[in-house]
Amino acid sequence: MAVRVRAVRDLVEFRAALGAIGHYFGWVPTDEDAERFSVRLSPERMHAVFDDGRIVAGAGAYGFELTLPAGPAQCAGVTVVGVLPSHRRRGLLRRMMELQLTDVRERGEPIAALWASEETIYGRFGYGLASLCLNLGIRRRSVGIRPDLSPEGAVRLIESDQALSVLPRLYERIRKRSPGFLSRSRDWWEGRTLDDRPENRRGGGPLVRALYERDGRPAGWALYRIAQTGTTYEEWKKTVRVAEVQGIDDAARREVWRFLLGIDWTEEITVEGLAVDDSLLLAVDRPNELRPRVFDGLWVRPVEVGAALSARGVSGDGRVTLEVTADSHFPDNVGTWTVEGDRVRRTSRRPDVRLDVQGLGMTMLGGFTFAQLARVGRAEEAARGGLARADALFRVARAPWCPEIF
Ligand SMILES: CC(C)(COP(=O)(O)OP(=O)(O)OC[C@H]1O[C@@H](n2cnc3c(N)ncnc32)[C@H](O)[C@@H]1OP(=O)(O)O)[C@@H](O)C(=O)NCCC(=O)NCCS
Repeated sequence: MAVRVRAVRDLVEFRAALGAIGHYFGWVPTDEDAERFSVRLSPERMHAVFDDGRIVAGAGAYGFELTLPAGPAQCAGVTVVGVLPSHRRRGLLRRMMELQLTDVRERGEPIAALWASEETIYGRFGYGLASLCLNLGIRRRSVGIRPDLSPEGAVRLIESDQALSVLPRLYERIRKRSPGFLSRSRDWWEGRTLDDRPENRRGGGPLVRALYERDGRPAGWALYRIAQTGTTYEEWKKTVRVAEVQGIDDAARREVWRFLLGIDWTEEITVEGLAVDDSLLLAVDRPNELRPRVFDGLWVRPVEVGAALSARGVSGDGRVTLEVTADSHFPDNVGTWTVEGDRVRRTSRRPDVRLDVQGLGMTMLGGFTFAQLARVGRAEEAARGGLARADALFRVARAPWCPEIF
């Protein structure tokens, strides 16, 4: 029997498709797991490969909003991609990615995004690295907030139901103006962000919810677990594993960090996926003790170039013309596009910059400039001053930040 690819039709197939990526985590999803997952990831958006009727691969896509420089836009969030090792390198990933991209376009989502487990996989499908992120392994006892930055406000620990009523509203305010942020449904808050089932603690303690208030009003929060290793008093090592730090502005985030840095008896604070220009780096007395490491962040693919550019928007007055030279999946994305504010149209004008669809994806959040791309052969200046013109219009105030791996 031939190998077939299609969307799953019920929860039994959904569970088997999840099992493909589950294989690599040593996780065999139960009916209950599939049910719980399907609340956030609609089964009709899960593609699977069937070999002789048996599911051997799966790939899903969330439907959420991703904030671009001009504001939130519909986005397919590609996730749970896996091919069983018995079926690798036979083109199954390619078949799923192609069907998924077609589906994304039919749904009217102008962009798709993902976190890549390996940077070498997704470029061929038109995804470009669009943001970087920072992981920290802070030596807590050696670092503090600079003494000239005075403390303000206070932190208190809250219960899950209170977090569920306060944090989503605050988050909504932050994410709408923060390129790289994703929308979060109530199911997402309950089933992911605030999920504290023991099987998800991964060796840590219960989830701690710390609410920061300034002038008596909620202004930020941290979510974290404390993990202990070692068995004897002498060997004990306690780590604060931070899942999230948010604040309505930099000062609020700094005060949340002040709280975390002050948790007695802990040696290390770990956190993954901060913005690459997170202001914590400059707010502490000894930045090296944060032990920062840079990783790749969100990968973005323009699915419908005109709509994607229009949703991205540009800053200031002026006009820039981009030639998209190649797109292996959507030939109609190839062509020359003029961008002026949020107005985008096909044009026969001479382009300022040439690049392929993957390169364009790298500019969607403002994480990289056209000049940076040109320096590494990912873009080409097509008219004198074209790179500078494009960069002036595409510039963003700060590095994009996707605060969550999905
Ligand atoms: C990565 C994975 C999905 C690839 O699936 P696959 O069916 O073997 O891939 P395909 O045969 O369709 O390969 C498609 C292309 O990607 C390339 N490719 C596949 N896996 C790759 C990898 N890990 N690194 C680099 N390139 C890879 C192939 O060489 C092929 O290139 P080509 O089209 O230029 O010839 C699969 O190996 C897997 O499930 N790995 C573990 C889980 C994982 O990494 N999932 C991704 C989560 S983000």
